[in-house]
Amino acid sequence: MGRRGLIIAIDGPSGAGKSTITKRLADRLGYVHIDTGAMFRAVALVAKRAGLDGADDESLERLCRGIEIDFFRNNGCCRVIVNGEDVTEAIRTPDISSLTSAISARKVVRDFLLTLQRRMGNEGGVILEGRDIGTVVFPNADVKFFLSASVEERGRRRWLELTGKGVNVTLEDTVSAVALRDKQDSGREHAPLRRADDAIDVDSTGLSIDQVIAIMEGMVREKEQAH
Ligand code: DC
Repeated sequence: MGRRGLIIAIDGPSGAGKSTITKRLADRLGYVHIDTGAMFRAVALVAKRAGLDGADDESLERLCRGIEIDFFRNNGCCRVIVNGEDVTEAIRTPDISSLTSAISARKVVRDFLLTLQRRMGNEGGVILEGRDIGTVVFPNADVKFFLSASVEERGRRRWLELTGKGVNVTLEDTVSAVALRDKQDSGREHAPLRRADDAIDVDSTGLSIDQVIAIMEGMVREKEQAH
């Protein structure tokens, strides 16, 4: 195939299990995992610290030019490094989640990260997870998955994750926040969350992570053999 391996795109709404599934699938396949949501979150964190609200394109563009994002593996866990600082935990707060949704709607930010994502992925042997990988970043990806689950199930999973970390939120508020983010991510003008026409639908409602991974791995292996 002339590359290190396939380019695999995994898109879908928040809380569908993308991160966990992509990480484990990448481990099983020996592929590199690129969490594009973490890249948008990193920009949002730096913007917040710089006092930017996300509406000023010129300042955002300048800010992006000064950002260097790296993924670093440590004890099987993927750390996110921004300008030399480990921000893995800092980018996962509810505050940053909602700012990221706004920041990721800005074209300047998307253009900046698009270049970076293509550079990171174009040699293959990668799984990229996000919202627009199969539609915009790699429309010619070898395998495209659209991973979803009901909004209630995704809200419940997010709530368990947050309360498990000691964050004090109600289930109801978490489900509403997930529904609001869906609306923002699908309704925005630039690269909205959309299923690629040739994506394989995987609905994880009621399935365990292991079951979902087994289904997806089987499909990727088949595709690898065909190459
Ligand atoms: O996957 P996540 O929850 O970490 O994503 C955080 C935010 O970034 C979410 O609101 C959608 C946005 N995002 C995006 O617009 N495009 C991507 N490729 C990945 C994430």
